Amino acid sequence: MAIASPSPVPSAAAAAPAATPAAAPRTSAPRPQLTDAQFQKFATMVYDLSGMRFEANKSYFLASKLDNRVQALGLKGFDAYLTYLDSPSGRAEYGFLVDEITINETFFFRHEPQLQAFRDEILMPLVFARRAQRQLKFRIWSAASSTGDELYTIALMLKDLGLIGKDLQFELVGTDICHDALAKARAGVYRKYNIRNVPPALLQQYFVHDAGTSTGSVGTETWALKPEVKSLCRFQEGNLTDAARTGALGKFDIIFCRNVLIYFDEASKEKVVKNMVGNMVDDGFTLLGHSENIYGQRHLLKPDKTHSAAIAYTKAPPGTPKYNV
Ligand SMILES: C[S@@+](CC[C@H](N)C(=O)[O-])C[C@H]1O[C@@H](n2cnc3c(N)ncnc32)[C@H](O)[C@@H]1O
Repeated sequence: MAIASPSPVPSAAAAAPAATPAAAPRTSAPRPQLTDAQFQKFATMVYDLSGMRFEANKSYFLASKLDNRVQALGLKGFDAYLTYLDSPSGRAEYGFLVDEITINETFFFRHEPQLQAFRDEILMPLVFARRAQRQLKFRIWSAASSTGDELYTIALMLKDLGLIGKDLQFELVGTDICHDALAKARAGVYRKYNIRNVPPALLQQYFVHDAGTSTGSVGTETWALKPEVKSLCRFQEGNLTDAARTGALGKFDIIFCRNVLIYFDEASKEKVVKNMVGNMVDDGFTLLGHSENIYGQRHLLKPDKTHSAAIAYTKAPPGTPKYNV
């Protein structure tokens, strides 16, 4: 499902009333709560939009996220929000809803043992193979790129290996369903939390540090990626459950799909993995996060046991039986 890009509306913070005078007693607002019927409606909507499955034990989480939208829109409550979403003018709201409920946790050089194994055992052999085949286009996809940390990490690794500007032409594509995250990815400006694992030499060479003291405010220290790295990466909206949109991205030599399948149920995983296999060249690899399992999709992707630290998968041979999970 394509989701309309959200247009700016006042944020929850902007819509909040002025701060209470210091002397006034503090009354904490009641925790927003969804009725069972409201939870079912929203959970189904989120599932249809993104493939993410929220079980009943996540009702409080969903309520607090949805409440941000209710407040931002100045609505009376969750029923009013449902009515708004159902109205013709509510269509653009789907993008805000998705932005609100996605979890964009990511950082540079996330899970380094996997990245080292990827570099030495997957990337470099594939680079040599492509040179031997005289196939000089090399495409890498970060399939749930969030704020871009993962794709830029790959770009930094390629730079560090001296592979950029040589014979192979690398195309690095990041897609995500969350517009906020994509905007941050395109901006390429990060806080300390995100860059904490970047090796110092790479940090020094490819980022511009702003100590944040020029404005006098505390906690505004940033690291901005230099254009020579940013220009290697392209980010666009993409819903992994949408076969037509993912298909249009074309084939990739390597796909990173880390830390997103954990939010999907079996039916969504089946759809997403099937789509991704359609995006892999025949000798390509897909890398998953270390806590993700796709036992139910082994008929589509086969674990690459030779390079187990890379958590890599190749296309399953045709006729591989589907396991019941
Ligand atoms: C936890 S982040 C993972 C980021 C990065 N891959 C990493 O491992 O560091 C998960 C991302 O998946 C995105 N996402 C969730 N459902 C999606 C879908 N159906 N299609 C595309 N992206 C999705 C979220 O917006 C979020 O940015």
